[in-house]
Amino acid sequence: MLPFTLPSDSAMMQKDFLYGVATASFQIEGDAQHRQPCIWDTFCTTEGKIADGSDGKVACDHVNRWQDDVELIDSLGVDAYRLSISWGRVINADGSINHDGLKFYISLLDELNRRGIKVFVTLYHWDLPQHFEDKGGWLNRETAYAFAEYARIVTTHFGNRVYAYSTLNEPFCSAFLGYEAGIHAPGRTSRQEGRLAAHHLLLAHGLAMQIIRREAPEALAGIVLNFSPSFALTESEEDLQAASLAHEYHNTWYLMPLMLGRYPDILNLLAPHERPLIHPGDMDIIRAPMDYLGINYYTRTVYQAGGELGFEEVRVDNVPRTDMGWEISPDAFTYLLKSLSEEFDLPPIYITENGAAERDSLVDGEVYDPMRLDYLQSHLLAVHNAIEQGVDVRGYFAWSLMDNFEWAEGYRKRFGLVYVDYDSQARIPKASAKAYQGLLSHRRAVCQK
Ligand code: FCB
Repeated sequence: MLPFTLPSDSAMMQKDFLYGVATASFQIEGDAQHRQPCIWDTFCTTEGKIADGSDGKVACDHVNRWQDDVELIDSLGVDAYRLSISWGRVINADGSINHDGLKFYISLLDELNRRGIKVFVTLYHWDLPQHFEDKGGWLNRETAYAFAEYARIVTTHFGNRVYAYSTLNEPFCSAFLGYEAGIHAPGRTSRQEGRLAAHHLLLAHGLAMQIIRREAPEALAGIVLNFSPSFALTESEEDLQAASLAHEYHNTWYLMPLMLGRYPDILNLLAPHERPLIHPGDMDIIRAPMDYLGINYYTRTVYQAGGELGFEEVRVDNVPRTDMGWEISPDAFTYLLKSLSEEFDLPPIYITENGAAERDSLVDGEVYDPMRLDYLQSHLLAVHNAIEQGVDVRGYFAWSLMDNFEWAEGYRKRFGLVYVDYDSQARIPKASAKAYQGLLSHRRAVCQK
């Protein structure tokens, strides 16, 4: 298998550029009986919400197989591993600590550290304990304070085992997909609720930043946001305006409060009751300085004028797409990194997720995944191009280490570098895993010269 390649003088071929793979608790862990039920457990039992009717009870059975999985991660030759903590596995509903759950994560972190693999810990990758949802979930301001207490417990117990913390993964998905579009847990469909949930998530982030700074001063602290750069269908004034409104509503709604302490102007287009209730001091908490920004990128989105807020998404024909139906556009990735860096004074960036779903199949014990090979190669180059144009990117994580529970799509969409046979739980590195491994061993050889 040919390795992924980058120009030999690329900053991404230097020793200090971090390469990793990423996962998230609910998507891989299983072992649901030893943690609190979360909103995704509930969502999975709701008729019609998960495409294949599956759930996260077993997933990749990672809790029982974590030692082999760490071996697998190490065998790829990566510098870092990004994982998330299940809130309900470390804290019980009455607020007491689940010591077995904590011990599981601490053993995992110790083993990764022993192997010299840097750990990026995400505190919240969407699996809100259901008992909080029963009290309003992210619509309840108290959830933000409960999150800060969870962050305190995690950071005090993990000590120096963590290289970088991110408070939240993709608050856009939690807030918009969960409370506004209804396609993720908890499945609510109100603009007012979506905007309020987003505000409380950002507040939770800001409160947790204070805790991480205090309890884990050595660790990097930041957040992970997802972006789909907005493009206009035509060059008409109306479509250009539509793309810019969509950018504010879906992208800078999260980034601007973090960087500038205010929401973008599209806030003023909302009816008063749809605007989030902002308490005095909230925006100062939210704009806490960060050591890094995690960026997740998969695809771009095209808009035309229309819709209630002035923009509507258009699906363009005749473009290459992944098995998710997402357009493949590496140039939009470079554009995103460049344009965000121009729009804001960003801290260093880590690409915390990037990857593609492909309809993989196991043939004679092997998985050949040409589309993913192409996708990853072109997107690695897209990051290289952004760095060449002055963007400060320090690392790249492929999504995902292995196939896993892909939220509303269930197990049918495979994003892994490693194939998972869910019947036997066998892990089989795909061609793309070998190409990634090849890039990393080539870099090691070059760096040693
Ligand atoms: C991102 C999520 C991640 C995974 C990828 C495909 O939005 O953070 O968990 O599902 O999409």
